[in-house]
Amino acid sequence: MSDRYCVIGNPIGHSKSPLIHAAFAAATGQDLAYERCLAPLDGFEATVQRLIAEGFKGANVTVPFKLDAARLATRLGPRARAAGAVNTLVFADGEIVGDNTDGAGLVADIVKNAGVALTGKRILLLGAGGAARGALLPLLQQAPQAIVLANRTVATAERLAQDFADHAALLSVCGFAGVEGSFDIVINATSASLAADVPPLPPTVFKPGTLALDMMYGSEPTVFMDFAGSHGAVVRDGLGMLVEQAAEAFTLWRGVRPQTAAVLASMRGSDA
Ligand code: ATR
Repeated sequence: MSDRYCVIGNPIGHSKSPLIHAAFAAATGQDLAYERCLAPLDGFEATVQRLIAEGFKGANVTVPFKLDAARLATRLGPRARAAGAVNTLVFADGEIVGDNTDGAGLVADIVKNAGVALTGKRILLLGAGGAARGALLPLLQQAPQAIVLANRTVATAERLAQDFADHAALLSVCGFAGVEGSFDIVINATSASLAADVPPLPPTVFKPGTLALDMMYGSEPTVFMDFAGSHGAVVRDGLGMLVEQAAEAFTLWRGVRPQTAAVLASMRGSDA
């Protein structure tokens, strides 16, 4: 029987992960099956234990279980520890190993797919929740010139920055309206786009050619992408990040790194 994996979430019906991993498996000749798994809101741990008992080799974890997954893991990789959240589980030798591939996926999408280097750049990171937290260490590891963390609730961003005190020289914190100067890269890690809201930033954060990336994606550009585009930014949604975080998880599980370009192109083409 094929090795089994799944993505655990609630809701989960919309997840594109089965499509992505099936494409990776076909392209790399890996014999695996990947499905969606709906866990009850109060039943994440029981679901994971059932999957392990059924012989699953690993799982992705999505909303709202990434913090539960970090608590449940018997061992955490450095990226998961820094993020305080887990999006990839490996079940092996009686252990539940937790990793976080979201930030690596974001960096790969920006550097490789968008062709924009992060080293020496000014980055504005919007949000201070799980998505921003997951992005911070991989972004810092690219040695940017500066990262400004802006959030609706400034105290939350201050707490996030305190957790990365080793990088204090590169990090500063403010509210949306208080962001000063322009940026090479603006990343929307808030969930505002879900509510069709745009963080109320001064438009001067964008300059011609700024890369403005929204971690959200849908069939239409998000309101943030429209806002950024109307002020001269090059816009990008979160689909590339989704494919890249999946590639990173696939590599952890299978020891083989899948190519992502064709998968991303076909998903954009078909909007599958
Ligand atoms: P996620 O795991 O997606 O990061 P989260 O941890 O709930 O979700 O964090 C949501 C982030 O989006 C937070 O930074 C939140 O700001 P607050 O800390 O002020 O709550 C931000 N956010 C959510 N809705 C928003 C909106 N309408 N406008 C601006 N920011 C918003």
